[in-house]
Amino acid sequence: MRNLINILDLSVEEIDELIRVADDILEQPEKYREVCRHRILATLFYEPSTRTRLSFESAMLSLGGEVLGFSEASSSSAAKGESVADTIAIVSGYADIIAMRHPKEGAPIVAARHTRVPVINAGDGGHYHPTQTLADLMTIHHEKGRFDNLTIGLCGDLKFGRTVHSLIEAMSRYEGIKFVLISPEELKLPSFVKKEYIKDKGIPYRQSTSLDEVIADLDILYMTRVQKERFFNEEDYLRLKDSYILTTEKMKLAKEDMIVMHPLPRVNEISTAVDDDPRACYFRQTYYGKLMRMALIMKLLEIQV
Ligand code: NCD
Repeated sequence: MRNLINILDLSVEEIDELIRVADDILEQPEKYREVCRHRILATLFYEPSTRTRLSFESAMLSLGGEVLGFSEASSSSAAKGESVADTIAIVSGYADIIAMRHPKEGAPIVAARHTRVPVINAGDGGHYHPTQTLADLMTIHHEKGRFDNLTIGLCGDLKFGRTVHSLIEAMSRYEGIKFVLISPEELKLPSFVKKEYIKDKGIPYRQSTSLDEVIADLDILYMTRVQKERFFNEEDYLRLKDSYILTTEKMKLAKEDMIVMHPLPRVNEISTAVDDDPRACYFRQTYYGKLMRMALIMKLLEIQV
């Protein structure tokens, strides 16, 4: 039985295969409409979410399966003090596969130890978010046509942004990648990602506090929201929240074929005027996310079409 806790749990070949299946679903959705009949996905969300939970549910429903779960810890037995280990042991008797989001880093590792069905990490605190990375990879595949020789700018909250951590891990496996890390001093990439996946692998990188200074060099600009819920005090959040705002003016400095990605939700960091720029991919990215989750559910349930 396989789980997906970290994006590196999947090999590069497995990711290619998931993209191939997701592309096939895009082309022939009717082929997949019944493949998860009588299978149940549990979505256990101890932390707020719109896209990830709904896209998991929509993915399972589009495969003909059923869904159950909770969307906030306060409506589950966690509010009574039940441990993740116990909840998972019980839910594994009610569902065939579990997608779980939790504010504590490492919670899905505990879940994996107590489950009898595949567990998918749908985000653990400021750590990782592997299924967002699957969405990101399908976006890159479609919009850039390659995974190698790309200069990738990651901008905003690199400290708490779990989507950034998972994306860096995933992209560190391809040739000719360069990272440009754009953040305020206080929100720099943590060493558990920077050391292992950039420095130790000898991947060229640059750090900057200015988006304007580096935007012209980028093939991909990955914008992120400052993660309000992970701050210890409101004052720091208010000071940092508008550090970067991508505007149509700034887009004029970028390459004609640079793409703009964002895991969403957006707060202020991309002006809505940028949405009309063909280089803005973030809404397409959400759709790719659903298709990749469909492909992932099938893989973990060992369903072949
Ligand atoms: C991201 C997350 O939850 O980490 N959202 C998502 O799943 N698309 C990004 C964020 O919340 O900023």
